[in-house]
Amino acid sequence: QSSYPKLPENFLLGGAISSSQAEGAFDADGRGLETQDLRFFDAKWDRSTRDQHRNLNINLSEYQQALNSTKTENYPLRRGIDFYHQYPDDIKLLAASGLKIFRTSISWGRIYPNGDELEPNQAGLDYYRKLFETCHKYGMQVFVTILHYSVPVHLVEAYNGWQCRKMIDFYVKLAKTLFEQLGELVDYWLPFNEINASRFNPYNGVAIIRDNFKNEHDYLQASFQALHHQFVANARVIQLGHELLPGSKFGGMIARFTTYPATCKPADIFKAYTDENIKNYFYTDVEARGYYPTYIQKYFKQQQISIQTTPEDTKLLKENTVDFLSFSYYMSMIDTVDQEKYHSTSGNLVSGLKNPYLKTSEWGWQIDPEGLRTSLNSMYDRYQLPLFIAENGIGARDTLHNNTVEDDYRIDYIAAHLNEISKAIFEDGVPVIGYTLWGVIDIVSCGTLEMSKRYGIIYVDLDDAGHGTGKRYLKKSYYWIQQLLGTLKE
Ligand code: BG6
Repeated sequence: QSSYPKLPENFLLGGAISSSQAEGAFDADGRGLETQDLRFFDAKWDRSTRDQHRNLNINLSEYQQALNSTKTENYPLRRGIDFYHQYPDDIKLLAASGLKIFRTSISWGRIYPNGDELEPNQAGLDYYRKLFETCHKYGMQVFVTILHYSVPVHLVEAYNGWQCRKMIDFYVKLAKTLFEQLGELVDYWLPFNEINASRFNPYNGVAIIRDNFKNEHDYLQASFQALHHQFVANARVIQLGHELLPGSKFGGMIARFTTYPATCKPADIFKAYTDENIKNYFYTDVEARGYYPTYIQKYFKQQQISIQTTPEDTKLLKENTVDFLSFSYYMSMIDTVDQEKYHSTSGNLVSGLKNPYLKTSEWGWQIDPEGLRTSLNSMYDRYQLPLFIAENGIGARDTLHNNTVEDDYRIDYIAAHLNEISKAIFEDGVPVIGYTLWGVIDIVSCGTLEMSKRYGIIYVDLDDAGHGTGKRYLKKSYYWIQQLLGTLKE
């Protein structure tokens, strides 16, 4: 068994989920249909069909079919783990492990069912009020993602998602409602989950359907314009939040695609350097420095992309940067100009090339704790802002036996990553303020929509088809976390 990593006493070790993967109850209490509710999955698919379907883009025929269906069968994100009804017990269990902070996201459709109404749905606000009060009652701080991918379907149908500039106003209105109604219950805010997802995952990222575009250029143009609207929305929400909730803390977040050159060949070095910029730093540069960097202007020129913007946008971005930066970290990747020489492997949102020095998870994601230390150092060097690891964890197949799961592999994974964070803090002087373990209670996987890809320290007895008792069981990792957090108090 791994020893306990050394962490500062005030380190915010917690757990994270998202509304669309956990809550279920997709049509309860006035909630409107959201984009994630439309994603299709068949538990009878074999492994390779599942892998093919792992492509996070929804196609048009699936989309139309889903719009006309009110079922939960084949739509696992409509069921989740019924967290919407079971949160009082779930939060109590999570808090009893000693976790100090709970990250979740707001279901936009619970607050504004269509997204463009004038008045919010009170039942949705009541739900989040009770949820956040429950967290505080048991001593956990609250970390809110305002938008974790899922938007009301009406916003896609009537406005083409984030391609339309009006989305900024709808989103700011959602945020204003949250600040006014729930502001005093929230400790940290994340306006957007993984704002760089749009490039790899347009349906999730900017709510656009790739099939709607006749070529790659038109799709790229639309997705970067949509992203620009998200950047402006992000800045406006930070401005408003700072005004309405003095002292509130707003973070930027990316999916961190830490990329190494496959060799020391100079062309590989430049390739990896460019990847780091285009996949990661572009987004944090805009959020933390407040402007579009030179390398992205060059990229836009090469791709013949032009962004419609205004002098007010430029000013807003410059004046309303984030208070801290966060990222999800699951794996690292390599890149080279000689791609054909390497085997490929899977990964979060994107597939990549196989690094011969790393082992992979059962889903092919390359496990690289040291890469987390490198990422923390390079992000702090660049921005000098406090850092928060908003997601990390391992998706694995668990076996329930004698009412528990002997998940030593998960303990090893978490311990190894926390050890590298410890080194970043104590040896390198990087201010890492917290870490929220992804899918801290088992939820539906975002990429593959499987329930059997589990990340939690609490097991939920449901299978891929949604069958099972739904009962919760504590895994070995739960007790390990409890011990670890006990050591922080000594
Ligand atoms: C992150 C997302 O990119 O990866 C989460 O923010 C997601 O929503 C997580 O669940 C893990 O990915 P997956 O596909 O294993 O659920």
